[in-house]
This record gives sequence, C-alpha cells and structure tokens, in this order.
Amino acid sequence: MKLNIILMGPPGAGKGTLAKRLIAKYNIPHISTGDMFRDAIKAGTKLGSLAKDYMARGDLVPDEVTIGIVNERLSKDDCSHGYLLDGFPRTIKQAEALKELTTNLKREVNLVINIIAEEDELIKRISGRRVCKSCGAPYHVVNMRPKKEGICDQCGGVLYQRPDDNEEALKVRLNHYYKDTKPLLDYYKKSGILADVNGMLGADSVLSLASKFIDEDN
Ligand code: AP5
Ligand code: MG
Ligand code: ZN
Repeated sequence: MKLNIILMGPPGAGKGTLAKRLIAKYNIPHISTGDMFRDAIKAGTKLGSLAKDYMARGDLVPDEVTIGIVNERLSKDDCSHGYLLDGFPRTIKQAEALKELTTNLKREVNLVINIIAEEDELIKRISGRRVCKSCGAPYHVVNMRPKKEGICDQCGGVLYQRPDDNEEALKVRLNHYYKDTKPLLDYYKKSGILADVNGMLGADSVLSLASKFIDEDN
C-alpha cells in the first residue's frame, strides 16, 4: 500500500483531528511539525526555545530549522511503510526540500489531502479548541467535548488552550496560510496528487472522504 500522505489545510481546518483518526486506521506515523515544536517547548530544548516566539506570534519557524527536523524524522525506519505529514510543507522551499528528500529515500508522496473550510468556521474552531497536554489530541468546547470536562478521553491528560489560539496570532497564521502555504496547492495539483475534502462536514464524514481517496490510490 502507498501511504505517503500530506495533510494540508488552513489553521483549524481539522488536520490534527483527521490525522489522529487516519493513523489509527492505517497504522502509519503522524509527523506534525506543530506538535514536534510544542513537545520541544515542553521539554525545554534548544529547538523549543528557538520556536517559541515565532509560534506565539503565529509566524512560521524558519525553513532551515523546520526542514532539518522533518528530514531527520522522515528518514527513520518506521516511515518506510508510509507516513502522515501534518502541517508540513508550508512554504515552496519546504516542498522542494521534501521532494528531494523523499526522492532520495524512495518515499515519494503519493497523496495530498487538502481540507477545505470557511474562515468563519476556522475562527469558531480555533477559539473553542482545547488540546491534551500529554498526547496532543484536539477537543472542542462545543463540537467535540471530552467525556470528562478538562480531561483527555484517550490518555487522561489535562486539556489546555494553545497560546497561539488567540485572535491576534490567528490573524497572522491565516495570513501566512494564504501567502506562503496556499500556493502549494497548485504545485501538487499539477503533479496530479491533490485531493480536496470538504472540512465543513462532521469529523466522521471527513474521515470517510479522506479514506476513500487513500483506498482509491491503492
Ligand atoms: P500547527 O500546530 O500545525 O497549527 P495550524 O496549522 O495553525 O493548525 P492547527 O493545529 O491550529 O489546526 P488543525 O487543522 O490541526 O485543526 P484541529 O484538528 O486541531 O502549527 C503551529 C505553529 O507551529 C505554526 O503557526 C508555526 O509557528 C509552527 N509551524 C508548524 N509547522 C511549521 C512549518 N512547516 N513551517 C514553519 N513553522 C511551522 O481542529 C481545530 C478545532 O476544530 C478542534 O477544536 C477540533 O475539535 C475541531 N474540529 C476539527 N474537525 C472538525 C470537524 N470536522 N467538525 C467540527 N469540529 C472540528
Ligand atoms: Mg493541528
Ligand atoms: Zn491525551
């Protein structure tokens, strides 16, 4: 099965939510650059202190840093039967670096799932999001409530609000999405591997639409 997949979409479109479901279904590693940076901040590493201010403002972490951590992660053995990239690539430079790396590793991307959602909905989703401090699972105060208030269903971790989930940082994140990331859709469309999914639907429908594209590709 070819499961070398990128998940794309604006902030709050549901990349993390869909990713958690796809990795459980297809048993492939989830490579979320946002989660990797948040883990590094939590662990107090050099990478974390480098990324922290960019993330808090909603700005992109510099390409060389982000490309470096993805190169290292994608080269690991557990990615030899597939991987799910979430939040990478986000710039043309990152896409070019990914192309070179995956060609060298013979792990070329075969599908780009693009989650589409309206801006009003993105704002509602981001402002009501709560995330598990331990495993990163996303919840929502209205759409996806945990069984027990403030506690993760999966691992019992504490739920918190991301520091970049505020109006000001979201504006910056959306601007970066439109300016730096959205142009990549054309790049992948031309390669014939782009699949659009309606992210305005419920999470179960989004999962079955995405799964259909994955299964059709195999
Ligand atoms: P990152 O963590 O990737 O954030 P993002 O792209 O802004 O996306 P989000 O995680 O906010 O949204 P999502 O699409 O995952 O939505 P979710 O599933 O949680 O990046 C954070 C920062 O790290 C960046 O700003 C940058 O600084 C840095 N960074 C990361 N990657 C980088 C890169 N490649 N280069 C440079 N810098 C980088 O869902 C959102 C909410 O909606 C949740 O509450 C959820 O419960 C709810 N929801 C989800 N799906 C549905 C649905 N179908 N129906 C109803 N509600 C839903
Ligand atoms: Mg996410
Ligand atoms: Zn958890």
